[in-house]
Amino acid sequence: MKPYDLRSDTLTLPCSGMRKAIVKADVGDDVYGEDPTVNRLEELTAKITGKRDALFVTSGSMGNLIPLYINGGRGNEVLTHELSHILHYELDSAATIAGVTPVPVPGKRGILEPRFLEEKLRPDFYYMPRVSMVSVENTHNMAGGTCYTQMELKGVADFARKNGLKVHLDGARVFNAAIATEITVRKICSFVDTITFCLSKGLGAPVGSMLCGDTKFIAEARRIRKMLGGGMRQAGIIAAAGIYALENNVERLAEDHQNAGDIAKALQEVTWAGVDPKEVETNIIIFRTEKHPAKVIVEALKKQGIHCSPKGQKSVRMVTNLGISKQDITEICGIIRKLSL
Ligand SMILES: Cc1ncc(COP(=O)(O)O)c(C=O)c1O
Repeated sequence: MKPYDLRSDTLTLPCSGMRKAIVKADVGDDVYGEDPTVNRLEELTAKITGKRDALFVTSGSMGNLIPLYINGGRGNEVLTHELSHILHYELDSAATIAGVTPVPVPGKRGILEPRFLEEKLRPDFYYMPRVSMVSVENTHNMAGGTCYTQMELKGVADFARKNGLKVHLDGARVFNAAIATEITVRKICSFVDTITFCLSKGLGAPVGSMLCGDTKFIAEARRIRKMLGGGMRQAGIIAAAGIYALENNVERLAEDHQNAGDIAKALQEVTWAGVDPKEVETNIIIFRTEKHPAKVIVEALKKQGIHCSPKGQKSVRMVTNLGISKQDITEICGIIRKLSL
């Protein structure tokens, strides 16, 4: 029985075309700004996002931390959804390194709305912290790969402009959002000041994320990246994989979304899982496990060759990715339908 690994889209392995691009990459010392492949990746990224400049960073976490450091500012507060990655899965680097306090904001489907953001603003008393920034996550990982509509993005952008706040987009999976909503990445980015997206998730590259913004911001970001130990030397070796990913693996994300939808339909038919396939917008499925604790379901699926992760006590997360083929999906759905618990 083949193991089907649905724990994350970070588990994808570079394909042979990507490996060839890595072998052929021209390289130089990127701390000197002399790696032609890194420079090409940064130019390509700026073009795709419509931002003036871009910086290759080691990870999504670093790509989020740098704008928190620069635009958040020590002693200030950053408004972010209560289930956001920044708040729960980045070791409190916002507080411990950037010196900002991330403030949890409620919202359905992981979406920030002006009416809830408004409640977190503070009066202008000299002894109160200032709110400096809003951080949006699109797609929203822990809300189940949900996407912002254009109106929702505009709502956050208008709120931020009105109140003099910067907006950062944690767009680890922004290409999934763009494919699912048919809003271009460029358009999504037009609502925010800075954006981070990951090459190493659904896009299938082995390492790296991109941070984008205006020229002044990226010049400062280059300094902070070095301070954090993220200055890389012949990084063209991995940047080549990033270019390959952007040129070859974006449109195919639609397959992952279709596959996630098929799994959700199979889960809807069994008694041990609760999910509405209409709520599965991209490549992440989160289903409720009302009959048994999540750990029991995860173990039972593992015995059948399907690897996934518990999310708290009562939900399970599955993520489709380019390592999972149509044939795999047929088999996964068959296993799910047969499993009685
Ligand atoms: C929404 C989101 N933001 C940021 C990150 C962090 O990325 P990395 O693991 O590359 O640090 C992740 C990783 O899963 C994520 O899902």
